[in-house]
Amino acid sequence: MTIRAPEEAEDDPVIRRAERADLLAVVSIENASFDHPWPYDAFDDLLGEPGFLVAECEGQVAGYVVSDVTPTAGRRLGHVKDIAVHPDHRGDGIGSALLSRSIAVLAAHGADTVKLEVRRSNERAKRLYRQFDFEPLRLMPGYYADDEDAIVMIRKLE
Ligand SMILES: CC(C)(COP(=O)(O)OP(=O)(O)OC[C@H]1O[C@@H](n2cnc3c(N)ncnc32)[C@H](O)[C@@H]1OP(=O)(O)O)[C@@H](O)C(=O)NCCC(=O)NCCS
Repeated sequence: MTIRAPEEAEDDPVIRRAERADLLAVVSIENASFDHPWPYDAFDDLLGEPGFLVAECEGQVAGYVVSDVTPTAGRRLGHVKDIAVHPDHRGDGIGSALLSRSIAVLAAHGADTVKLEVRRSNERAKRLYRQFDFEPLRLMPGYYADDEDAIVMIRKLE
């Protein structure tokens, strides 16, 4: 039986570290979300990374985020590398919950700035990121395998 805090709504996603048992569900969501999905091994290699999180709804993996912190030129730069929510669960706040927790994890690991790349055409994701105070920094022409441009967005942390 799952015991929930009184303020936690019944249908709030549980956000937790990814485990090996989650990977098939993660890859299935990845395949349903992207034309050029990451392979299983890419996620397998990231197990244990504090910023690799899944959202669980009613015992099922409904989404995930992959993020990490790397030292860059004397700073600690957080990077949200991949985020996706199962198509049946989009629009229910799961992406926001994952991004919020990811930013908190990156901050706890010393990141002073968080960056991400987003397809120029991905209005849904861009709206999500703007809500989390990410701002466009620059364009990376032809960044993706199909030659679409990426927008690099960043957010400074307190
Ligand atoms: C982007 C994605 C992760 C958002 O996840 P989600 O669980 O649907 O997001 P939320 O329900 O938390 O919504 C957060 C915000 O996203 C935007 N959004 C969500 N659904 C949307 C829709 N149907 N149309 C436009 N914007 C939408 C809104 O700004 C929304 O905030 P609001 O509800 O206050 O308006 C999800 O759409 C997804 O998996 N997309 C495919 C993979 C992808 O593109 N990943 C990003 C790669 S950079």
